[in-house]
Amino acid sequence: MRLPFVTLTLLATSLLSNALVLPSPEQFLSQQFLALNKEDLKEQVIQLNAIETTGSLPAYEDLPLVDTDDLQNLITLEDLNSTAIDLYHIAELSLGEYGHPTRVIGSKGHWGTIGYVLKQLKKLKHYYTFETQEFKALDGRVLSSNLTLNGEPVEKVKAFQLTPGAHVYGANLFFAANKGCDESDYEGLSAGNTVAVIQRGICPFGDKSSLAGKFGARAALIYDPLSEDLMPGTLGEPTDTTVGTLGITRSLAESLTEESIVDVEINAFVRYITTKNVIAETIHGDHDNVVSLGAHSDSVEAGPGINDDGSGTVSLLTVAKQLSKFKVNNAVRFAWWAAEEEGLLGSNYYANSLSPEENAKVRLFMDYDMMASPNYEYQVYNGSNIDNPKGSEEIKNLYIDWYNKNELPWVLIPFDGRSDYVGFIENGIPGGGIAAGAEGLNSQNGEVLDECYHQLCDDLDNLAWDAFLVNTKLIAHSVATYSKDLSSFPEREVESKVNDVSENKKQSKFLYRGSHLIM
Ligand SMILES: *[C@@H]1O[C@H](CO)[C@@H](O)[C@H](O)[C@H]1NC(C)=O
Ligand SMILES: *[C@@H]1O[C@H](CO)[C@@H](O)[C@H](O)[C@H]1NC(C)=O
Ligand SMILES: *[C@@H]1O[C@H](CO)[C@@H](O)[C@H](O)[C@H]1NC(C)=O
Ligand SMILES: [Zn+2]
Repeated sequence: MRLPFVTLTLLATSLLSNALVLPSPEQFLSQQFLALNKEDLKEQVIQLNAIETTGSLPAYEDLPLVDTDDLQNLITLEDLNSTAIDLYHIAELSLGEYGHPTRVIGSKGHWGTIGYVLKQLKKLKHYYTFETQEFKALDGRVLSSNLTLNGEPVEKVKAFQLTPGAHVYGANLFFAANKGCDESDYEGLSAGNTVAVIQRGICPFGDKSSLAGKFGARAALIYDPLSEDLMPGTLGEPTDTTVGTLGITRSLAESLTEESIVDVEINAFVRYITTKNVIAETIHGDHDNVVSLGAHSDSVEAGPGINDDGSGTVSLLTVAKQLSKFKVNNAVRFAWWAAEEEGLLGSNYYANSLSPEENAKVRLFMDYDMMASPNYEYQVYNGSNIDNPKGSEEIKNLYIDWYNKNELPWVLIPFDGRSDYVGFIENGIPGGGIAAGAEGLNSQNGEVLDECYHQLCDDLDNLAWDAFLVNTKLIAHSVATYSKDLSSFPEREVESKVNDVSENKKQSKFLYRGSHLIM
């Protein structure tokens, strides 16, 4: 059975009572906090955001102008460590609901992360303004999936992310013509107990599933005619006709015939929930020339996400804290995006909702996702001024120059859509970033960069502390450099940007949405 989409009512900020009692940092992680239900947690996030703080305010005028070496020198392992430990305990808030630590959107671990970021920012309220931005996000879970062929279970199948459920037994197969991207490819498919078999290619997986469903298929099987591998694909936002969809291997697909009988059982649901981005901006500095950077606050469901992207979350908090000891010439905007793992939803929502005036003020965006992979390499996104907005190449070179200066080896990796820079690039804002590696292989030793990528073991033991410190210092360098001086950084090409936006959005150049292939 396919579960209905649930749209949660928007949070009622206006219902806040005036007599709020904030938890202390100690209480925040206490049993009492653990006992709160999810609605209370959301409420608490709002409360944290709404409360005024007092305290001794350092006189901004007395601060020294930001300097890269001074800022880098303030980045310490102790800070990174204690913040990472806090984050792990916050992931444990989800134990009751998930049976393991996680900071997946909608979980206590994720609401707790948002609350924690806000709490840290509140301590810096003299230096930053901050806000949350609520948006609707798709939350999909695949609880189990299996396929049987002529009564025999098939070992290698992979449910697509955001698939709806399917309970189809004793079904016949329909082989879609071509790549199953056109209505005519489903000619001859009669509604009934039928499962469509479709080749990968030309159009997104989601379009194939939706078309198959439209013509009466009750589930879909997709395979890659060019590869035996199962695809880490997503169906994206479902339509009314999207059906439960499994990826199968090429060899299995080639063994299927008109006589084959299959059972497809997928226990899954897709629903809409609301979640929040957190955005903080220096009170001082030129707000018409904003230096922006981001990390994602959420993890996948499978684990606590301490490297992905707990590390970036911690790095940004650490840099934000130390930056507050300096004057800046250009405003700095830190963002903690939600729902990156569901397809870059938070950062896309943010970038797409910037007005043309606000868009024009953002000089650049830097993405910091996975800073401390255990078998790390120093990866720099291969942005260019030809394929990407002008300035992307300068950002790339800033990282390369810094690694060179510090005699650290670096590698270029494709700028292909796997993290939160996409929304910025597609809206004409130059972007770049660094990473330490996900499921790929280390180019020097041939071993997987992060064995625990998207798994339960992405915990406190999954951090390379040397890389964590190095990369956080580089983040500090990027922030110090650009907040001090953007005079040699390319001006925004605003006019062409504004005209290009809708055009760009229609034809994404990226192959991925986050960690999932779109097509
Ligand atoms: C982090 O802090 C914990 C608790 O104080 C300590 O046991 C651990 O060794 C520290 N790790 C690093 C890398 O400093
Ligand atoms: C799917 O797997 C579950 C448990 O692993 C089993 O109970 C169920 O019968 C299977 N369904 C099919 C269609 O094979
Ligand atoms: C980086 O991108 C440029 C063009 O944008 C390309 O020519 C070059 O081969 C890429 N380098 C790597 C290592 O991917
Ligand atoms: Zn990530």
